[in-house]
Amino acid sequence: MRILGIETSCDETSVALVEDGKTILKEATYSQIAVHREFDGVVPEIASRQHILHILPVLEKVITPSELSSVDAIAVTQGPGLIGSLLVGLGVAKALAYSVGKPLIPVNHIEAHLYAPHLFAEIPFPYIGLVASGGHTLLFLVRDFHHYEVLGSTIDDAVGEAFDKLAKVLGLGYPGGPLIDRLAQTGDADNFLETSKRPSLLPDTERDRYNFSYSGLKTAFTYRIQHLEDKASRLADICAAFQREAIDLLLRKSLNALKDYGMSTFVISGGVSANSYLRQRVMEWEKQGIHTFMAPLAYCGDNAAMVAGRGYHDALAGKYGNLRTDAYSRLDFVRKGKRML
Ligand code: KG4
Ligand code: ZN
Repeated sequence: MRILGIETSCDETSVALVEDGKTILKEATYSQIAVHREFDGVVPEIASRQHILHILPVLEKVITPSELSSVDAIAVTQGPGLIGSLLVGLGVAKALAYSVGKPLIPVNHIEAHLYAPHLFAEIPFPYIGLVASGGHTLLFLVRDFHHYEVLGSTIDDAVGEAFDKLAKVLGLGYPGGPLIDRLAQTGDADNFLETSKRPSLLPDTERDRYNFSYSGLKTAFTYRIQHLEDKASRLADICAAFQREAIDLLLRKSLNALKDYGMSTFVISGGVSANSYLRQRVMEWEKQGIHTFMAPLAYCGDNAAMVAGRGYHDALAGKYGNLRTDAYSRLDFVRKGKRML
């Protein structure tokens, strides 16, 4: 089954053609990072306008109008994400599906992230899955593609958001994750934060055994940095210390879940799964018998291949949309009184 995937939930305009949820036949992505950099973060209105400018040129790189009838379905990110951005992708996907008479597959962005490592490996179920990105920090017990439980999530900021905010405080630019990651490689975490003061080493409370909190960490670092006179010369140490705390918290909660549920397979995805310290730490878990699957760096962040791949499994399960399919955003979760996935 050949699926055309479209992703426009945040600041990447991405289109991909994927066969049977595995083989990426063609893909193209336009990243808006350079446009948002001047504002130190994603500006939703600019993001939507960038998508409307770039979506058809990106689509054209992947498929010509005459080739469209050869696809079996059109998968598109339905949400969660920035509503104006989502509407561009969904509008284009609906128009394409309508014009060639193919089914529409609305895809959940979090499920798509979790799928990304599946594009590259046969991953045995069940497993503990972690989605760590700019908007989400979620820990799952995944039984199969359609059955999973949310074990925990962030109670305030997402982990990627914390990286981005700290980078802003340090004057490093956007996005913060890769910049902090790079600087941290030459820093010494202990030089900035000694063991006795490390929040990631505090014991878990029963209630928050699988939950994350990042706003306190960000605030603690921000206050300390504001009072530093030699900030510039200690930048690498600050980055190393922050990265170690942020990532160790992810790892500790994940390990809690792996142990409690007796799992030996771990899947990490989302932009933060590109973090070099995180990737190196989970490789060390192999010795403890925990096998970790993660996507190659280019597929950790937002991309359409994961949308098409996830869409294939939704199609197999008969989860199709129709001409009235709507996008969903934070508002829908607020209305329903639910915590946003
Ligand atoms: O998955 P993604 O592209 O978009 C969302 O769905 O949010 O994730 C973007 C996030 C940003 O916050 C970015 O700073 C973070 O992923 N990120 C990283 C790294 N690369 C990207 N965080 C830590 N280390 C990295 N190497
Ligand atoms: Zn994402």
